[in-house]
Amino acid sequence: MVREATLEDAHAIQNLICFYSEDGKMLFRTLDEIVQSIADFLVYEMQDEVVGICSLKFGWDKLVEIRSLGVDPRYHRQGIATKMVQGSIERALLRDDCDTAFVLTYAVPLFTKFGFEIVDKIQLPQKVWNDCQACLHKDNCDETAMSLSLLPLKKLATLKDSEKVLYS
Ligand SMILES: CC(C)(COP(=O)(O)OP(=O)(O)OC[C@H]1O[C@@H](n2cnc3c(N)ncnc32)[C@H](O)[C@@H]1OP(=O)(O)O)[C@@H](O)C(=O)NCCC(=O)NCCS
Repeated sequence: MVREATLEDAHAIQNLICFYSEDGKMLFRTLDEIVQSIADFLVYEMQDEVVGICSLKFGWDKLVEIRSLGVDPRYHRQGIATKMVQGSIERALLRDDCDTAFVLTYAVPLFTKFGFEIVDKIQLPQKVWNDCQACLHKDNCDETAMSLSLLPLKKLATLKDSEKVLYS
């Protein structure tokens, strides 16, 4: 199930981040950084084990970034990331301070399923690129920028309660 992370999840979150940051698939975060931003994280728990993580960064001109999305390789292609992205969108829809979600990703089809569209990275505000300074691929970024307007979803409230993966 998808749920909000608690401080007890910090080590498990860091383990997955470390695993994927080694080859540059994810930005490294210290345990302290994870603890400080634990409220931003969602986790996917399976049999008392955290096997998926994702975080949301709010605060950029009504933009919210979905980041640090990763699933334990033992459980790939079982729909876990799909549920985490859905949970992230549900969480963003509850907020008044964002109207667009974006992601920098290697998994374009995963986000296309939710209506994200490829955008030119140049369209993202400069502040977004601060994090890139710490990325292994900063001079040769091979991620695709994608964005999704949340306004139609907010207006239509299309996520029926019974279909929610978070707060259900
Ligand atoms: C990308 C990742 C999070 C996907 O997790 P997952 O739980 O296996 O994803 P799902 O099972 O929900 O996949 C749903 C769909 O997303 C797409 N998808 C999944 N993994 C993908 C990948 N590595 N590349 C491209 N598309 C991918 C596929 O269309 C898939 O549907 P299918 O299985 O019917 O073909 C996982 O492979 C991972 O942790 N990768 C390393 C970390 C990473 O790259 N993070 C950045 C992502 S923003």
